[in-house]
Amino acid sequence: MINISGSLDNVNLDDDAFVDGVPHETFALLRQVSPVHWTRWKGGDGYWSITRYNDILNVLKDWKRFTSERGANLENWDGDQSIARRSMLEMDPPRHTSLRKIVSMDFSPRAVARYESFVRDITKTIVEQTLKKREFDFVDQFAAQIPMRVFARIMGVPEEDTEKLIAWGDELMGNTDPEVTEVTMYSEESEKYRLYPFRNPAALKVFEYGRWLRRHKWDEPRQDVLTKLAHADVEGRSLMDWEFDNMFLLLITAGHETTRQAIVHGVEALIRHPDQIRRLQNDASLMQTAVEEILRWATPILHFRRTVKEDVELHGKKLRAGDKVVLWFISGNRDEEIFPDPFYFDVGRAPNEHLTFGKVGVHYCLGAYLARLEIRVVFEELLPYLHRFELAGKPVRMRSNFTHGIRFMPVKVVTD
Ligand code: HEM
Repeated sequence: MINISGSLDNVNLDDDAFVDGVPHETFALLRQVSPVHWTRWKGGDGYWSITRYNDILNVLKDWKRFTSERGANLENWDGDQSIARRSMLEMDPPRHTSLRKIVSMDFSPRAVARYESFVRDITKTIVEQTLKKREFDFVDQFAAQIPMRVFARIMGVPEEDTEKLIAWGDELMGNTDPEVTEVTMYSEESEKYRLYPFRNPAALKVFEYGRWLRRHKWDEPRQDVLTKLAHADVEGRSLMDWEFDNMFLLLITAGHETTRQAIVHGVEALIRHPDQIRRLQNDASLMQTAVEEILRWATPILHFRRTVKEDVELHGKKLRAGDKVVLWFISGNRDEEIFPDPFYFDVGRAPNEHLTFGKVGVHYCLGAYLARLEIRVVFEELLPYLHRFELAGKPVRMRSNFTHGIRFMPVKVVTD
């Protein structure tokens, strides 16, 4: 059970409020007494916080009234920023549909099933390397190593460049945390990068690298996603430079930090719930439900945003055209009306229709099947050892209300 005392006057959902953990009490209060709540924010005007599961679903389905074209997270975009920075994530149909079509087949359940053997090979290598050490940072040395390697293979990025991509991806997704990037999103310095994704200089490096790869794939086509992007035909033309840049950067960032964090939170949850490790070790058929519970528990993306297109009323509140609407997936995933005992970590939970990938609507996560595969393989490979894992210090969280991030988590592996 969660304590829901507190006052609506003090609601704070800024990045700082997440440093010591998710403010679950605030979300429980909002779900109960103000499910559509005007939330003040230090980065600009306020926004509407949507905290109940069913309301989040309704907004996700309704792209005609709740557009993605004005930005997908809290940052305010002016006209020139929305032109320069939009990827398919920040587009509505039909433009969104034609871009998503280029890559959707490579992430379908059938395509993803073909990736399992190399996902397992990559995972086994990392498990072997890290378990040799008695104590290590689980984030950097384990969880960060797998998603980008898998992704590089699918995209057709040279293996030797994955470390570089991991570093750029970290800077972009950690753009509100001064421990992660020198140019944080609300700093004056970031003004120079306002036309680049995440207002961060790492975006320029990703663009430059992506364009180099594009030329390379143009000359030497292969069976990979980058070759498809380089040769894409959208209504009779190739992708324009900005379309390619933003698509490449979206793909690099979307699947890396997110899957890493699902793995980190999953291991942390299991270490803290040894009874659930025993259940899994005694009955491996629970792995499927365990993966879904890890995803619900972790909710690596805390929110995505929409913007109201035409005035609309929700739970008695009048939302005006232009208002920002923030869909708090982390809150929907603990909605007590949908999930019995939502703060209990239960590897056998079923049903478990969590919102972690967006669940419905045109932007439903492109990489959901791939992420599920990676998480399942990681936990299958770690399962024989998990009861020997211990936390060797306090996990350090990211200062972000967008990424549910753990930056550092020392673990030790004790002997049986
Ligand atoms: C646990 C891991 C992941 C989580 C939590 C996650 C979460 C999400 C969510 C919530 C959305 C919906 C955005 C919206 O409604 O505006 C989304 C979209 C997206 N995700 Fe994921 N994702 C994960 C893994 C991946 C992977 C591995 C990829 C690699 C391909 C990926 C690529 C994308 C893309 C390209 C979109 C935009 C889709 C569109 O606009 O049509 N994601 N993701």
